[in-house]
Amino acid sequence: GSCLESVKIAIDTGYRHIDGAFVYYNEHEVGQAIREKIAEGRIKREDIFYCGKLWNTCHPPELVRPTLEKTLKILQLDYVDLYIIELPMAFKPGDAIYPKDENGKIIYHKTDLCATWEAMEACKDAGLAKSIGVSNFNRRQLEMILNKPGLKYKPVSNQVECHPYFTQPKLLEFCRQHDIVIVGYSPLGTSRDETWVNVSSPPLLKDPVLNAIGKKYNKTAAQVALRFSIQRGVVVIPKSFNPQRIRENFQIFDFSLTEKEMKEIEALNKNVRYVELLM
Ligand code: A2P
Repeated sequence: GSCLESVKIAIDTGYRHIDGAFVYYNEHEVGQAIREKIAEGRIKREDIFYCGKLWNTCHPPELVRPTLEKTLKILQLDYVDLYIIELPMAFKPGDAIYPKDENGKIIYHKTDLCATWEAMEACKDAGLAKSIGVSNFNRRQLEMILNKPGLKYKPVSNQVECHPYFTQPKLLEFCRQHDIVIVGYSPLGTSRDETWVNVSSPPLLKDPVLNAIGKKYNKTAAQVALRFSIQRGVVVIPKSFNPQRIRENFQIFDFSLTEKEMKEIEALNKNVRYVELLM
């Protein structure tokens, strides 16, 4: 239920872009929140930008559309605004989200990412997804799609980890050249959950530079980190279940960072990922 409440608070606060996925196991709550807010008359469906994701076990082309249809059924929506390939590697299809062999090793699956992409294009043509994109793709993987013979639609976006300690300058430049929007996940340096986060990297929001700049504008380090990203053209998707922090993360449109401050924050880059995706 916490996701339902948080999405409703977020919509009331003004957020319109909602980043979801089947593997977050809360699409039913997200869909309910959106539908409730539509019923209240606060928003229309077309005001919301919902991003869904194709999980690793669903890469074979024949599974792509049924997987998206399942997401739509859970959301109880007719279309998603953006559907993206969550990761460039495929796992063995089946009910197990992390299929493992008897030694506990992930069982991968051979699929052709370009064939998966063609199935994504078909979802757009069918009107089930307004736009299609990718996530966690590096330059080579993007080039594979961009150079695919007979490409119908380019990926509109690439969702990757991006924040002041991991600024992705080269990927950002490559994507800019190809009109691919970078959507930055973990824009606040994510949680300190040891099960999936590399906690040996220093916590972003304790950074002295971010805090000092924040003090000048009467903003928090979190607000400075988010403002930095949007000011360099990176879309941010901060996560919070806390109403006060949900609102705080939206109060970033009433100040701007100077060129010097942007450079200072860019210089914080450590090229270190919090989310290592070791599988
Ligand atoms: P919570 O849900 O309790 O607010 P990211 O978006 O980079 O993945 O970061 C999410 C983490 O940062 C969550 O642990 C979230 O906790 C916390 N968080 C979200 N907003 C803020 C904020 N404004 N200040 C401090 N921590 C925040």
